[in-house]
Amino acid sequence: MRAIKPSESRTVMTDLVLPSETNPLNNLFGGELLARMDRAASIAARRHSRRITVTASVNHVAFNRSVPLGSVVTVEASVSRAFNTSMEIFIDVWIEDRFTGERTKANEAIYTFVAVDDTGKPTEVPPLEPETNLEKERYAAALRRKQLSLVLAGKMKPADATELKALFTS
Ligand SMILES: CC(C)(COP(=O)(O)OP(=O)(O)OC[C@H]1O[C@@H](n2cnc3c(N)ncnc32)[C@H](O)[C@@H]1OP(=O)(O)O)[C@@H](O)C(=O)NCCC(=O)NCCS
Repeated sequence: MRAIKPSESRTVMTDLVLPSETNPLNNLFGGELLARMDRAASIAARRHSRRITVTASVNHVAFNRSVPLGSVVTVEASVSRAFNTSMEIFIDVWIEDRFTGERTKANEAIYTFVAVDDTGKPTEVPPLEPETNLEKERYAAALRRKQLSLVLAGKMKPADATELKALFTS
């Protein structure tokens, strides 16, 4: 299978924050942002694999900044590493200043998607070929994040999580 570059799966979704999507402080409701990130990540996973893809896990979410009502929010997702049937998707969330147009990073998240066939059975995906320094950093750290996610889900024994253990012992 031909290796796919992160730029080939990159998915950019820009939308407004409307009153029905806010909490009592007039900031974007966290669940609404999770759904927007899930949608963008799903498209990125599909662009990488050209398969049906399902969310297997939300590995990390950081709500660092609140997103006020009326904000223009851009969600950018791309595959950061492909394994056998699963893909790690990195999502960056930006808000745009109303007057200057300057973009500020508001949040980020990491999701795992699995490519499946028509019966829902996991199926192989192409490898990823990172190009930029940031893409290479995210690629390199993805294996330990996968191991952590599998250990937390009870699908891997901590003793087998060699990359993850190396973080604490090196
Ligand atoms: C995701 C799903 C297809 C995995 O099926 P499974 O029978 O566990 O398959 P496997 O054990 O072979 O795992 C498939 C891949 O997912 C990875 N995976 C499974 N659970 C994971 C987790 N919690 N974190 C990270 N990776 C995970 C495995 O490591 C494997 O990756 P690899 O092939 O690249 O090495 C299955 O659990 C499923 O269909 N879940 C529901 C998905 C869904 O409906 N999502 C929307 C929620 S509403």
